[in-house]
Amino acid sequence: MIERSLVLLKPDAVQRGFMGEIIMRFERAGLKIVGTKMVWVDKDFAKKHYAEHVEKAFYKGLEKVITHGPVLALAIEGVEAIATVRKMVGGTEPKSAAPGTIRGDYAHVSYGYADKQGIGIKNLIHASANTEDAKKEISLWFKAEEMHSYKTVHDIHILE
Ligand code: PPS
Repeated sequence: MIERSLVLLKPDAVQRGFMGEIIMRFERAGLKIVGTKMVWVDKDFAKKHYAEHVEKAFYKGLEKVITHGPVLALAIEGVEAIATVRKMVGGTEPKSAAPGTIRGDYAHVSYGYADKQGIGIKNLIHASANTEDAKKEISLWFKAEEMHSYKTVHDIHILE
């Protein structure tokens, strides 16, 4: 039940100065940051992370978005953290992401607009879709010694 999810604050989130605000949302939900690093992803690494999407029409735009500047990678732990984090992140397209979600609150662009401009959609954040992806993605982004187990004040509320 205690899961770990891989979250990426994409270059648009970093460049817009939203790292602190986004991390604060996860911390306020009682989730625990158990790994973090800043990485400027190159095209080869992007292809590894997005292996299942490389052949898709939107991949060129996605590659440009993810390699545009440094990414803040986070490993986030909590009760059923994978689903909770996805709920907080919101839908892929900012235009239709619900208010209250990270994509719905901090971005607004539509697929239609991005396609017309010939650009990738900047939706601020990536979060693992399921347990299998989370496992793969955490081991791609973090070495075992870069992950940390420690107690927070929230643990008393989930353990007792
Ligand atoms: S998901 O999360 O896999 O269900 O989302 P999906 O809609 O299948 O999209 C897969 C990833 O591709 C990103 N994506 C795009 N990026 C840039 N431009 C366009 N047009 C675009 N369409 C989809 C989407 O955000 C997913 O990446 P992450 O990093 O998980 O958000």
